[in-house]
Amino acid sequence: MAITTLLTWLPPPLTLVMYGVLALGAILAIHILSQLIVPQDPKQPPVVFSWFPLIGNAVLFGINPIAFLQTCQKKYGDTFTFTMVGKRVTVCLGADGNQFVFNSKQNLSSAAGAYNHMTKHVFGSEIIFDAPHSVFMEQKRFIKSGLNTDCFRRHVPMIVKETEDFFRNYAKPSGLMEVYSAFGKLIILTASSCLMGKEIRANLDDTVADLYYDLDQGFKPINFIFPNLPLPSYRRRDYARNKMAALYSSIIQRRRNENDNSESDILQALMDSTYKDGHALPDNHIAGMMIAVLFGGQHTSSTTSAWTILELAARPDLLKALRQEQIDKLGSLKTDLTFENIKDLPLLEAVIRETLRLHPPIFQMMRRVMVDKVVYEKAGLEVPKGNYLCAAPGVTQVDPTYFDEPLKYNPYRWIEKTDPVHQMEQGDDANIDYGFGAVGISSKSPFLPFGAGRHRCIGEQFGYLQLKTIIATFIRMFDFELEDGKAVPKSDYSSLVVVPEHPSNIHFTFRE
Ligand code: HEM
Repeated sequence: MAITTLLTWLPPPLTLVMYGVLALGAILAIHILSQLIVPQDPKQPPVVFSWFPLIGNAVLFGINPIAFLQTCQKKYGDTFTFTMVGKRVTVCLGADGNQFVFNSKQNLSSAAGAYNHMTKHVFGSEIIFDAPHSVFMEQKRFIKSGLNTDCFRRHVPMIVKETEDFFRNYAKPSGLMEVYSAFGKLIILTASSCLMGKEIRANLDDTVADLYYDLDQGFKPINFIFPNLPLPSYRRRDYARNKMAALYSSIIQRRRNENDNSESDILQALMDSTYKDGHALPDNHIAGMMIAVLFGGQHTSSTTSAWTILELAARPDLLKALRQEQIDKLGSLKTDLTFENIKDLPLLEAVIRETLRLHPPIFQMMRRVMVDKVVYEKAGLEVPKGNYLCAAPGVTQVDPTYFDEPLKYNPYRWIEKTDPVHQMEQGDDANIDYGFGAVGISSKSPFLPFGAGRHRCIGEQFGYLQLKTIIATFIRMFDFELEDGKAVPKSDYSSLVVVPEHPSNIHFTFRE
């Protein structure tokens, strides 16, 4: 009996359900068969198999993106395309993949095309990805001008003080500390006093913290897929953005009215900057850039400091060596930390670098193809318009091609320099200036926790300074180890940066 005849015998609601099930089955069958039967274009990267149309590989990617990409790499090689809720993402792994993604010309593949639909709601319009590219590069230069040696010199004692004051709350003989939340709170304090301005720091306990929280809710993976939904969290995000902008405007006005230009923060640097055409930065540009700086440095530094403490908690030998380094180089654990003497602590620097290798906060970076196709010559492939290009330092930095025993936390690799990465030839693009100063590192590197090329991080120096100062101070104040019988927590990929799984506890003993 034909299926249609069977359907006519069923009561109407069931008929509808049956039609639905049949239609769904047919769609699934077509989706699966088309992947198995229809030959793929050999000029394009291989496409990762998926069971479901539209959703594609989103579920496996969402559970553990690094494991998913590594499995695909084994099966398809360094370049492949997967589907994530209707978006086609072409992943380019290895040092060559990094170079291809980070060095691509702005008119061919664009970061704004990948991110602006989400970031403009948090940062605001006409700035960062919402500005013409050349203006964005100018804006990066303005922010960078507030991150100079004179400012750093003033920042170190400020960070020491914030760290000591904050951790005095834990001045009991011993106890448990949830490090991700503790360091998240500390970083917002240090970043506020050094970068945001004393006025924001003073308001941190009440208004600003709430505004920041609501804005932060606009920076979740869901916002990447659905940038605007009629939901309360989206409305609170927009309200918080406007309030934050108004708060900055009032601070700018007060500083101008009182001729107060004594601060060494980024706010002052932006107030003192002018665009190439001679215009001063309007208040809404300054406010938006300040919000972008806050977001650029907050989760990245919080998670890096937390991972560093967790890794050290598992390695008493390293903790001992770090203290000994301070005694050898600075004279004692009581010598004041300064911008100059903190540069003289190579093991401390290597510890941060190793954390950024094993736990890069931003494990993947995207660009969107804006022209009919971009050609990836080294791979002999073409990537079509609309695809996202994805570089994934989170995968390449644990690739045994470049790092010996890549999953081992071994800061000494950065001092001994015996890994294959140190024997590699680098590209010659480190000296290119895209408008905010030379980028300083070649994009043909497997180790890029701060990205490369025109979108390279401008907060790297401040990030290292802040992290080194905080870790150096923390190990003076506390002995610590992991909770009994526990290992370093696994990675949690549910937010836009990779954080330790909750709870990420250490057991501490106060030393003073
Ligand atoms: C860009 C990582 C701290 C501001 C980036 C990028 C990465 C990164 C990977 C490149 C994104 C891409 O190519 O799509 C980090 C890490 C940090 C850190 C790991 C700390 C451990 C900071 C700080 C600031 C900052 C403290 C602010 C002072 C920026 C800005 C960009 C950027 C303005 C430029 C975005 C672009 O041009 O598209 N950062 N960052 N970052 N970061 Fe950072």
